[in-house]
Amino acid sequence: MNQYVKDFTIRPFGPEDINGHLAAVAASRPQLAAALSWASPAYGPNESAAWVMSRTAAWAQASEYSFVVEHAPTRTFAGSCSINRIDWPHQVGNLTYWIDSRWTGRGAATAGAMLAARFAFANLGLRRVEILAAEDNAASIRVAEKLGAVREGVLRQRLRLGGARKDAVLLSILPRELNEPAVERRPMGTA
Ligand SMILES: CC(C)(COP(=O)(O)OP(=O)(O)OC[C@H]1O[C@@H](n2cnc3c(N)ncnc32)[C@H](O)[C@@H]1OP(=O)(O)O)[C@@H](O)C(=O)NCCC(=O)NCCS
Repeated sequence: MNQYVKDFTIRPFGPEDINGHLAAVAASRPQLAAALSWASPAYGPNESAAWVMSRTAAWAQASEYSFVVEHAPTRTFAGSCSINRIDWPHQVGNLTYWIDSRWTGRGAATAGAMLAARFAFANLGLRRVEILAAEDNAASIRVAEKLGAVREGVLRQRLRLGGARKDAVLLSILPRELNEPAVERRPMGTA
């Protein structure tokens, strides 16, 4: 897979991504902790390495599909997105994403999430992709809506973030709704 939207691409994780993942988490800790349950102050090098190294097995076991969101021209680790919590019998999956704070505001999340959702429909055969965002996470909800996701409702007290219970907005995308801005395919090895 080598697809680009607005200079950002996604690709599966490899062992070479441990340092990029760790540095991105370290640079973005307050922003991530406000939105993602795993990004606690205790999340450090061991956790980064274990998670990155677990990606290949998770993919092989068809449990989670995680991608590096990469700034293609510089091949810099910009963030991550995953299709997880897959309900295979019903062809439904969850889409999650985060971007290194040093790379936000440039369309990285929208590009990465769009490509991951496209992967979910085209490669996994899913027919519905869900996004769950804290109700006060306007940037995440905006990303989902830019993909074409439809807001379905508020799930009360659905998330626990930073020790606080939060209401969450549930959005979903069906294959026909996915906004697909011009996707450029370049051969492997080109920037
Ligand atoms: C949410 C997040 C993924 C966005 O990443 P990003 O690369 O900056 O996203 P994009 O640049 O693709 O798009 C962001 C959009 O949100 C908008 N936005 C940013 N902050 C906003 C705010 N406080 N209120 C409303 N909209 C906001 C931007 O203007 C942009 O929309 P636009 O293109 O219409 O102007 C990133 O901030 C992040 O990683 N946050 C912490 C983790 C997280 O929240 N993950 C989602 C969990 S559900």
